[in-house]
Amino acid sequence: MKQYIVTGASRGIGRETALALAAEPSNWVLALSRDTTGLSRLSEAAQAAGAGDRLHCLPFDLAQPDWPRLLEEINQWGKLDGLINNAGLLIHKPFEELSVEDWQRMFQVNCFGVVALVQQVLPLLEAAQGAHIVNISSMGGFQGSSKFNGLSAYSASKAALANLTETLAEEFQSRRIAVNCLALGAVQTEMLAQAFPGYAAPLTSEEMGGFVAWFAAHGNRFFNGKILPVSVSTP
Ligand SMILES: NC(=O)c1ccc[n+]([C@@H]2O[C@H](COP(=O)([O-])OP(=O)(O)OC[C@H]3O[C@@H](n4cnc5c(N)ncnc54)[C@H](OP(=O)(O)O)[C@@H]3O)[C@@H](O)[C@H]2O)c1
Repeated sequence: MKQYIVTGASRGIGRETALALAAEPSNWVLALSRDTTGLSRLSEAAQAAGAGDRLHCLPFDLAQPDWPRLLEEINQWGKLDGLINNAGLLIHKPFEELSVEDWQRMFQVNCFGVVALVQQVLPLLEAAQGAHIVNISSMGGFQGSSKFNGLSAYSASKAALANLTETLAEEFQSRRIAVNCLALGAVQTEMLAQAFPGYAAPLTSEEMGGFVAWFAAHGNRFFNGKILPVSVSTP
């Protein structure tokens, strides 16, 4: 049995990643997010797909984490095979209008929350002897990519996550924990609609979630410490 955690699973890419992982009979998935209505819908979708027994939802806020509750849930597993750091926050504003609080909120979810979660689950990842951390970044945080107005703080936080990937891969190598980063291009979700109103993305969240799930399960055979652009469009 392989155990996975997916953050930001109440909607969008995280939801579809969790469903795609749970579709595999040998997987067990813990889906984290704040929105309990979205999590209930995810549970129902998993039930409808015959994967209800393999997907469990836990309300969880990366900005105000309840570590004892999370650890109570996962310590019984004895190991963690995959951590998909998908949760993300985008506040779309011109640079001069971004407050310190806006910067802090985005860095908290997109970067510091990942740092804290990895620290908490590190013993379980090590116990898996072959675990894979997948950090979901953005093309906006990918060096040399096209940049867009209103996304300075978001892109900087995603660039920090990408860099963290490289350093953690080095630091965790002896513990057989691979760390990779997927720098996503446009996928049709609520976040995309907020950043690029009216833009039609070439990929659905189902398509991208399916790819992320596959990559989480198999990508560490081929990559470690890599920041991979996953994009077919600009933006
Ligand atoms: N869609 C795109 O075109 C695109 C492109 C590049 C990168 N990405 C990245 O892909 C990931 C998924 O994006 P998406 O488009 O699916 O976004 P989305 O529809 O806005 O979903 C974001 C998810 O993050 C969760 N989240 C936000 N703040 C959180 C917090 N404090 N604690 C826990 N969870 C939190 C949300 O859940 P709750 O509100 O329930 O907490 C939600 O499930 C993000 O990291 C995003 O930056 C997306």
